[in-house]
Amino acid sequence: MQICVIGCGYVGLVTAVCFAEMGNSVTCVDSNGERIAALEKGISPIFEPGIEALLQSNIAGRRLTFSSSLAAAAPDAEIVFIAVGTPSASDGAADVSQILAVAQALSEHLSKPAIVVCKSTAPVGTACRVQAILDQTSAGLQHRVVSNPEFLKEGDALNDFMRPDRIIIGTDDRHSQRVMHQLYEPFVRNHDRIMFMSRRAAEMTKYAANAFLATKISFMNEMAAFCDEFAVDVEQVRKGIGADQRIGHHFIYAGCGYGGSCFPKDIRAMLHMAETQGTRMPILEAVEARNQLQKEWLFRCLQRSLGQDLRGVTVAIWGLAFKPGTDDIRDAPSRVLIESLLATGARIQAFDPIAADNIARCYARAVAEGQLALGDAHYAVLNNADALVLVTEWKQFRQPDFALMRTLMRRPLLLDGRNQYDPQQVERAGFAYHGVGRPASRPQLSALRRAG
Ligand SMILES: NC(=O)c1ccc[n+]([C@@H]2O[C@H](COP(=O)([O-])OP(=O)(O)OC[C@H]3O[C@@H](n4cnc5c(N)ncnc54)[C@H](O)[C@@H]3O)[C@@H](O)[C@H]2O)c1
Repeated sequence: MQICVIGCGYVGLVTAVCFAEMGNSVTCVDSNGERIAALEKGISPIFEPGIEALLQSNIAGRRLTFSSSLAAAAPDAEIVFIAVGTPSASDGAADVSQILAVAQALSEHLSKPAIVVCKSTAPVGTACRVQAILDQTSAGLQHRVVSNPEFLKEGDALNDFMRPDRIIIGTDDRHSQRVMHQLYEPFVRNHDRIMFMSRRAAEMTKYAANAFLATKISFMNEMAAFCDEFAVDVEQVRKGIGADQRIGHHFIYAGCGYGGSCFPKDIRAMLHMAETQGTRMPILEAVEARNQLQKEWLFRCLQRSLGQDLRGVTVAIWGLAFKPGTDDIRDAPSRVLIESLLATGARIQAFDPIAADNIARCYARAVAEGQLALGDAHYAVLNNADALVLVTEWKQFRQPDFALMRTLMRRPLLLDGRNQYDPQQVERAGFAYHGVGRPASRPQLSALRRAG
């Protein structure tokens, strides 16, 4: 099929390479000219394991091309995917202006009837708005708008797209159902996981899925705080409840809060959608509030351990991306910590295998002034540090040499924002350890405070 994908970000690029890999002819459009220039050379603007190999093989196979001109790329497309951003507006609403602008441009440039697919996460009713724009302005051409939300996880996006749990297609139109089924069939060959529903239900399903996952995380973070009150290790509780098949082991890890380009903005968008209907979603309000608290936990914990005034203190950070496997730092917990530390006058030495450049761009002034140093090795950033904070649980941080770390650091304090380490092992190596909802060794912490 002749496909045009608009937006070459995490979703658009994965969509484009995966459809090309299945033998379709795909043109990917982005308004960012630098992105297109890099992509044409087979260089991915995003970090996603395996994406460059697929990108290069499909470019070489002439199934995948790139363009910065929608006017040039869209006219012949049978199916157009809209995969542009829907960031939070200042009032929390999902800003759908990029989608509507693309719809307007499509109405001017499509030269034959097309199926226009909204892949971006957007409030209920957005696909209908796109349909209305196309209906009003396309001279006599009948375009069909479908909602097909994306469920990929950054870091495992290719696998998610190639082997999806389900594919949600929101349309009541028979022709669109047939074409979309044909398009996705290669991805669900062993058993059909394509689900048809109304456009509005498809849009709502995406939000409901993210809200539910965020709720699981915030629930577990609240349990961690509760466990703290009773000196109970939340990790033991996690394993205990996860064994119940009705609960399961996924998404019940306590930590320093969820981030990324989806959960925070989608929860905010839902709260805003509720407000526009004159209703409330108290559970989601609590999910959001707990997440804010959780993101502040690392800084508060540092203050509890090292004193309120952190001026002159050096803090090492391991992991800056919002989760392992991606370079995405949007709404990442590391940023809340970095901003609090910068404001208080502390010095930061941070390492991330992939996301450091994005952080450097974001805090260019602090980098230039030497308050934020980005190291190129994880042990190197420990030199003379007063604390180490594990924020993102990249695999390479899983089994560190605690004895070596102890010799590098000025003060032996380890804050484990992902409950990655065995507290006793860390304490045996001479560290004061603090995890999320894990009983800390209080005497060690107070000894540390005195040493400071
Ligand atoms: N990132 C994820 O893990 C993920 C997962 C599922 C759904 N989503 C949703 O998918 C959508 C896209 O997310 P993303 O992370 O890929 O965004 P992104 O910011 O990485 O990419 C969006 C791209 O669209 C381009 N763009 C914007 N306006 C354009 C225009 N008029 N013409 C051409 N290109 C244009 C931008 O330059 C950018 O490259 C969002 O609604 C998001 O919520 C994201």
